[in-house]
Amino acid sequence: MSAAGPVAVITGASSGIGEAIARALAGRGYRCVLLARRDELLRALAEQVGGEFEVCDVSEREQVEQVAARVLERHPQVKLLVNNAGIAARTSFFGGESERIEAVVRVNYLGTVWATRAFLPGLEAAAPSDVVDVVSVAGLVAVGGGGPYAASKHAQLAFSRGVQPELARRGVRVHTVCPGFVETEGFPQDRFTRNPLLRRFVPGPEYVATHVLRAVDRNLREIVIPWWYRPLAFLPTVAPGLVARVLERVGPSRVHS
Ligand SMILES: NC(=O)c1ccc[n+]([C@@H]2O[C@H](COP(=O)([O-])OP(=O)(O)OC[C@H]3O[C@@H](n4cnc5c(N)ncnc54)[C@H](OP(=O)(O)O)[C@@H]3O)[C@@H](O)[C@H]2O)c1
Repeated sequence: MSAAGPVAVITGASSGIGEAIARALAGRGYRCVLLARRDELLRALAEQVGGEFEVCDVSEREQVEQVAARVLERHPQVKLLVNNAGIAARTSFFGGESERIEAVVRVNYLGTVWATRAFLPGLEAAAPSDVVDVVSVAGLVAVGGGGPYAASKHAQLAFSRGVQPELARRGVRVHTVCPGFVETEGFPQDRFTRNPLLRRFVPGPEYVATHVLRAVDRNLREIVIPWWYRPLAFLPTVAPGLVARVLERVGPSRVHS
């Protein structure tokens, strides 16, 4: 694995989709800088991919700024930033824990904002460079009792779309990747994977990693994966009343990714 290739910073790299992205990027020759909170997992992965790690809670702005300053001192040019760190919020707006509602916004949305701001000097120094924001289908449609997670992902999507034009002018291309349900540690999908028929519709994290690379290679601005979730990208916009009425009747009480 590469020790001196272009530098990629991946948040939430200690497990799941972030880990798969790090492995895929290392396979392409990137020097990966892995960020998350669990240092033992990061250390082990960094050794395997010939990369580096920094313990970083992306919801803590000052911590993100300090970590970015350290990374940029070592690597003034950052070719790729993947904003992937995220948590589920298996709670509803009402009756759920208020702390979880705050946490999901601080990690999923603000974590993306703080990391992008903090690493921007390195991205501009490496221009043309890339940012990939791992959002979710839940950023496109808000269903049922999983509202706090969907709200955080809607905010992250708005940030991702909103900064695209400005950053493009500054030589930094932003790609938004919206996966549907994926089987990972933080987002177990047992209700699907237990069923032999439904299991095939729940890919693993490597599937997302492949599409992250594809988005960068082909300069795709926004992708929804797998393809069968794509109607969700426009249905709520073209037929909001219909969608609302259908969900009132048949919508699940919770959606988690
Ligand atoms: N799995 C799905 O169904 C699915 C679908 C659509 C989108 N997504 C999105 O994909 C991303 C990755 O999720 P995943 O499915 O791979 O789940 P995962 O296996 O639980 O991975 C989440 C990663 O985020 C890190 N993280 C959590 N809180 C953090 C914090 N405060 N600061 C820094 N890192 C933090 C975790 O590491 P530490 O615990 O070590 O900090 C872990 O590395 C998330 O943004 C998620 O919303 C997932």
